[in-house]
Formats: sequence, C-alpha cells, structure tokens
Amino acid sequence: MCGIVGYVGKSNAVPILLEGLSALEYRGYDSAGICVMKNGTPTTIKEKGRLSDLKQAIAATPAISSALGIGHTRWATHGAPSAHNAHPHSSENDFYTVVHNGIIENYISLKEMLLEQGVRFQSETDTEVIAHLLNHNHTGNPMETIFKTIRQLEGSYALGIICKAEPDTLYAIRCESPLIVGKCSHGTLLASDITALLPHTSQAYLLENHQLCVMNERDFFVYSEEQEQITPTPFPVDWTVESAQKQGYDHFMLKEIYEQATAVKQTVQCRLFEEGICFNELPQSNQWLMGFRSIQIAACGSAYHVALLGKDMLETYVRLPVSAEIASEYRYRNTLTNPQTLFIAISQSGETADTLAALRKAKKNGACCVAICNVMGSSLAREADYVLYTYAGPEISVATTKAYSAQLALLYLLTLSFSHRLGHLGQEEWEEILEQLKALPKQISRVIADTPRWVSYAEQFHNAKQFFFLGRGMDCFTGMEGALKLKEISYLPAESYPAGELKHGPISLIEEGTPVIVLSTDKRLFPKVLSNLREVQSRGAQVLLITNYPIGETDIAGEVYLLPDLHPLLMPSVSVLPLQAIAYHIAKVRGCDIDKPRNLAKSVTVE
Ligand code: F6R
Repeated sequence: MCGIVGYVGKSNAVPILLEGLSALEYRGYDSAGICVMKNGTPTTIKEKGRLSDLKQAIAATPAISSALGIGHTRWATHGAPSAHNAHPHSSENDFYTVVHNGIIENYISLKEMLLEQGVRFQSETDTEVIAHLLNHNHTGNPMETIFKTIRQLEGSYALGIICKAEPDTLYAIRCESPLIVGKCSHGTLLASDITALLPHTSQAYLLENHQLCVMNERDFFVYSEEQEQITPTPFPVDWTVESAQKQGYDHFMLKEIYEQATAVKQTVQCRLFEEGICFNELPQSNQWLMGFRSIQIAACGSAYHVALLGKDMLETYVRLPVSAEIASEYRYRNTLTNPQTLFIAISQSGETADTLAALRKAKKNGACCVAICNVMGSSLAREADYVLYTYAGPEISVATTKAYSAQLALLYLLTLSFSHRLGHLGQEEWEEILEQLKALPKQISRVIADTPRWVSYAEQFHNAKQFFFLGRGMDCFTGMEGALKLKEISYLPAESYPAGELKHGPISLIEEGTPVIVLSTDKRLFPKVLSNLREVQSRGAQVLLITNYPIGETDIAGEVYLLPDLHPLLMPSVSVLPLQAIAYHIAKVRGCDIDKPRNLAKSVTVE
C-alpha cells in the first residue's frame, strides 16, 4: 500500500529518494514526503497529492543536499490524506523521525500514555506514536531503543528510522510488512518493494520479522531481537529496470495487457516438457497427491476470480471437492481445514494481508500450503510449504492483467498435472490440451492485437449508467473479472451474473440502451446463453456477445466478437482479454487516471 525508501551514501539522497518514490508511487499515493539529515539536523518536506506535488515543494525550497534520508508515499488509513498526516513523522524535538508501512493496532493506548506525559501530536496517524515512543524510550543507544520500542507495538510495521544522535546511520525494522535492503557502489538503500532498488542493485536482502538493519554509507548490518549480528542471505533479483518502466506505452496497464502472452509463456514453458508437465517445486510421489481429500483456494480481488476458475477446473478434472475462498472471510470462518486439505493461496504481490492470514490459518490447521505468487521472496512465498511462481515480471498497474493471466495459466498446469497423475484425463484429451497450451501465448497475442477495436465500443458506451456481464460456468467468473476491471479503473457500476440468474431479480435494472456483455465459450451451453441474451435484448439491452461459437451479428442483432476456438479449459485465457481492453479504453475516454485509480493501492497489506 504505502511505499518506503531510504538511502545513506556518498551521493545526494534527495534525487535517489525521489526516484525510489516514483517507482513506488503505484503502491499508495495520496501524499508523500522525505526527511533528509543535513549537518545533524533533519529536514522534512511533505505534501498532499501526487509525487509531482512533493517534487514542486522540494524545488521551491533552498536546494538541499544530504547523504542520508528516508521517504514515503502514503495511502491513508489513520487520518485523512493531508500534508500533516503524510510521513515522515518526527518526535517533538525531531530527535527520531520515522516512515512506516502497516498499522499499529494499539496506537490509541500508546497515544494516551504519551499524552499523559505531555507529548503533543501533530497528526492523526498511528505512525506518529512510534516517533514519540522512540523518543520516550531513548536509552542513549538507538539500536537498544528501537528493540525496546517495537516490543510495545502491536500490529504490522515496516519502519525506516533516523535519529539525530546518529546522523550518519539509517535504521530499518519490520514485522509483517516487507522491507528490502540493497548495496550499491555509492551507498546502501532501503525499500519496501524491489522495484525501487532495481536501478541500483541486482542483489537484495530481505529482512525477516523483528530483525533490525543498521545501515551506513559503506555497508549494512543485521541484528536479531537478541541483538546478535546475523549474516543475511542475498536474494538475486531477476527483474530488470526496463521491465518496471512504461517503455513508450500510454499506461502501465496497456503495456501489461500486451505483455500477457509473454507472462503466460514464461509461466508455462519452464514446467511443460515433451513428456508432459512437471512441477519440480512439488513432491513427485502420487502418495502425496492421493493423501488429499479436499482443496481450498484462497485469494482476494482478481486473484479470487482465478480461484473461482480454479475451483471449476480442479473439480472437473481432479474430482476432489474444491472451495474458492475470499481470504478476508476465510480467516475468520469456521472452515473445514485439516491435514488432508491442500490449501492454495493465490497472490500477485505475495503480501496481501488477508491472503497471508488465510495461509497461516490453513497451516495452523495442518493443511499442506502452496502459494502461487509473482513476487519472489514475498511473505507468502516464504511462509508456504511450497511456492509456485508465476513469471509475469513486475506488475505496476494497480489493475492486474498479466499476473491474472499467469495465475490462470499456472492453474491449468496444476489441474492437468494432478488430473493426469490421478488418471482422470484420457490420453487424447491430455494431448489435445497440452498442444493448445503450448500455442496459448500465440492465441493470446492474436486477441490482444484486436485491442484497438475496442476504442469505438468505449466511445459508444463510456457514459452508460451501468454495465452487466453475463455468462454460465467459467464465463461468469471471467465476467466478474471484467466487471471488476471496469469498476476499478473507470468508476462505472458493473455486475456479473450467472446468465440464468438474472431473471431472479437483477433483470429489473435492464433499460433501453443498457450495455450487456455476454460471454459464451462453452459450446454445450450456447443455446441456453442465447436464450438469456434474447431476454435482456427484448428489454432494450445493447448486447455484445463474446464467443467462440460461429454466429453472425445479424443472428443476434448485436455486436459479436469471435474468439479463437480452444479447448473449454483454456477459454478463460482469451475471453478475459477483450474485457480488459474494454475497461482500459472506457477509462481512457472518461479521462480516468488508469494506472492509479482513486482510493486503490497495488498491494493491500492491511486487513
Ligand atoms: C484488481 C486487483 C486486485 C488484486 C487483489 C489481490 O485488478 O489487482 O483485486 O487482485 O488486491 O492482490 P494480490 O494478487 O497481490 O494478492
């Protein structure tokens, strides 16, 4: 959600912090700020709004050059977006200054205690409590003080800390919120997200919970809670700077839409061999697989839509009961999870708080936990029993596209591999699907090449009051993804319904001109879907049919988009593509900030 950067070294910290914040801006962006240490005195500049507002404020102040600083982009939780609630926050005499990601759950009682001591607060944030508490606890030794202070904190935090007493040192500590440290030729760097480090280093060190990192211009040192020095293991970063840049596209979302074929190819090709599918990451024995009595898939948002599709395909092909779980509900529900449960958590970032909590719950109940995620070394990846990476590369746009496609591809592989190993899939069908899976990236590219086609659709419907998506089976879940994309980036109300369910209530919302996007990719169900299409059409709906069934526009008196005709299992990979493009172009015509939709953040690290 929020983003943290820190730098200490031989270069001027200000441009380095701003460059890091630009790379992190997608995580949270209602305000931003930096604090740099100059001749032992911290100077803080913070602004409400976008990073450009902060840059203007910095440009308007007398030039500051400093060898050490911390920066933050904020996505408001406690206290409205404003300059005074923006980070960094300092203790009263600027003795300690902090930037913070996460939520301090016991901040009210800590604040009351500090208020009683006469401390005066400048903001409504939970973060400011940490700065004052550090000051209150100061023992003369910042390292000791930080350890003492975190023992009083409940909740989650990633903290960058500077202290006037040690003006050449930067401190960092975390609990349940990621922090990464890197070293480059001119200094050491801190970030909450690997993308901020990419221009400087290709080796990162991931801090573990409660480890304190002490950084100076030459090196950094990691200490355990017992204040013993630890040798951290480097973590190679295989993402390039370019992969996290727009490269001439108008928006990251458009770039990432076009990158989907590659994301799928990279995810599939390392597991697909002449003789079949192999997940080297998982136990190979059939005993292991046969030990499961049920599968649970937990995720949030778009990843939850992949979970719904996964439930459908795993039940069909693996013949085990599967539940798709909204992670925020799963964590508090009385679930039937036990050692015979295979639990799969899906998350692009691997840092989504609810998904992580769901995984921990499943683990506590003895389930075997598999994480599907895109960010290497993320919390989910580290805590799962097994991790299956999607190789989509860095996804910057808040609205996911390529990570979604890669997750879907990974679930195909998992479904097919399990089904084949358990003997549920006939040889002919297995070979047919494998062939098509190999060719899937090409099919995806073909449909994406039609992306410009959706401009005129967007021009026609960008002012619609409400959109509907209809489909049966897997198409309904793809419709849910289409509706989510439209809502989040164009702010238009949109709903997806199982096509047969509409007449049990929501059909009353269909009016003259209501745009209805009908998906039909399972030929067995086409006649049923066609009847539902006619039902809305006769009530005035403007229908767009997306199908692999060869039917003409005149036959349905509406627009038709013909998809490649693939095996039904693989159809969700191509049917979602026009929906992403429609959402993108509608948002563009409406003048929305596509990569940074209002109120949203890329990685949801709070409950
Ligand atoms: C929607 C979107 C979100 C994420 C959700 C889970 O376009 O991107 O709904 O899918 O926040 O995020 P991850 O996959 O990082 O757990």
